[in-house]
Amino acid sequence: MVQSSNYRIDGKRLWDTLMAMATIGATPKGGVNRVTLTEVDRSGRAQFALWCKQAGLTLRSDSMGNMFARRPGRDNSRPPVLFGSHLDSQPTGGKFDGALGVIAGLEVMRTLDDLGIVTEAPVELINWTDEEGSRFGRAMMGSAVWAGVHPEATIKSLRDAEGITVAEALTAIGAEGAEPATHTPADSYFELHIEQGPILEREAKTIGIVTGAQAQVWFDATLTGQDSHAGTTPPDARRDALAGAAEIILLVERIMRAQGNAGRGTVGRLTVHPNSPNVVPGEIRFGCEFRHPDDAVIATIVDDFPKRAADLAAARGLALRITPVFRVAATPFDADCIDLVRQACARLGYPAREMVSGAGHDAVHVATVIPTAMIFTPCKDGLSHNEAESITPDEAEAGTQILLDVVLARANR
Ligand code: GLV
Ligand code: MN
Ligand code: MN
Ligand code: MN
Repeated sequence: MVQSSNYRIDGKRLWDTLMAMATIGATPKGGVNRVTLTEVDRSGRAQFALWCKQAGLTLRSDSMGNMFARRPGRDNSRPPVLFGSHLDSQPTGGKFDGALGVIAGLEVMRTLDDLGIVTEAPVELINWTDEEGSRFGRAMMGSAVWAGVHPEATIKSLRDAEGITVAEALTAIGAEGAEPATHTPADSYFELHIEQGPILEREAKTIGIVTGAQAQVWFDATLTGQDSHAGTTPPDARRDALAGAAEIILLVERIMRAQGNAGRGTVGRLTVHPNSPNVVPGEIRFGCEFRHPDDAVIATIVDDFPKRAADLAAARGLALRITPVFRVAATPFDADCIDLVRQACARLGYPAREMVSGAGHDAVHVATVIPTAMIFTPCKDGLSHNEAESITPDEAEAGTQILLDVVLARANR
C-alpha cells in the first residue's frame, strides 16, 4: 500500500491553473460569469480539455455534456475512483465555487505523473454539467441524470429565460458527447469544494470533513392579478401581484426564522410583468427554495407553504400557481469514504471538523449510487455566490493534498 501522505502536490501550479481558469468569464469585480452551456462555458471546457490532453488523460463526454478524464491503473478491470466538481458558475459567481474541485483533480493527476505513480485502479476526473441551476432552474443537472435521479428527457426539455432548451444549449456549444449519461460501476467519488459558509473560518479549521448534505426543495410560482393604471386605479380595485409577492416573500422569511439557525428560505428570482413604473403589476413569476438538515422539516414545508401562500394571495384577489420542481433529500455520505478524509486530516496534521453541507453539490446525486464523501476548505468571510469569493493558495493546497491522499488510498486498496 502506497503511503500517500509522503507525496506532495505542487501548490504553485495548482494556484496558477486556478487563476488561468478564472480568466475565462472574468468579471470586472474579480469574479467569474461562466454560466452553464454558454460560449464562456464552452471556452472553459475547451481549456480544461486541453489541460487533460496535455496530462495524457483520455477524455470522454456523455449526452449531458458531463466530461470524464481518465488515467489508467494497473488493473483496468477495477472500477475507477472518481473525483471532480463543476466549471459552470453563477452569473455573478466567484473564482472557486466548483472550479477548485476540478482544478484540484487535475493537480492530483499531474502529481501522479510527476511521481510516476501507477494506481491499482483507474482514476477519473469529472466536470459535471450545470451544477449551479442558475440558467434552467434546476441545480446539479448533469449529475442528476447520470445518477438516474431525473430523466434525461425531462432535463433536456427545460428552458432558460430566452426559451432555449437544455438540449439546444448542449448542441449549440458542442458539449454533447457520445456516451449515454448513465453511471457505470465506480469505486467511490470524492469532491473538494469551498465551504461557501463561515464555519471553518470562524473556528480556524483548515478542512471540513463533510458527512452529508441538507435537504432542499425548490418551487416555481406564478402570481396573477391584473395590469392597471397606476394613477387611476383606487386601492380597493387593485389586484397588485407584486404587493402579493412581497407578502409571500416575507412568509418565506418567517418560515425560515421559525426553524432557528438551521432554517433557510430564499426568494432569489422574481420577474415582474409588465415591469413599468406606472402600471400596477399584473403578473409575477418567482422561484423560491427552502433548506434544512431534517427531511421532516422540508416535508412539512412542502405541505404547508403553498397553502399559506395561496391564502395570502386569495386575500388580495390574486391567483397563485405554485409547484415544487426540485427536491433533494438529506444525504448522508459513505462512512468509509468519510473516514478516509478524517484519517488524511490526521496524517497530514490539518485542523479539521465534521460538518453537514449547507449547499447542494453534485456529490449529493452521486452519493445515491456510488460511495461518496466531500472535503471542504474555508472561504473568506464565508462568502460565496458572490464575485468577491476568496480563498488563499494555502487553503487550496491543503484541500488538494487531502484529495490526493484519499484518492490514492482508495485506488490502491
Ligand atoms: C448551488 O450552488 C446550490 O447549492 O444551490
Ligand atoms: Mn459549487
Ligand atoms: Mn454554486
Ligand atoms: Mn452548489
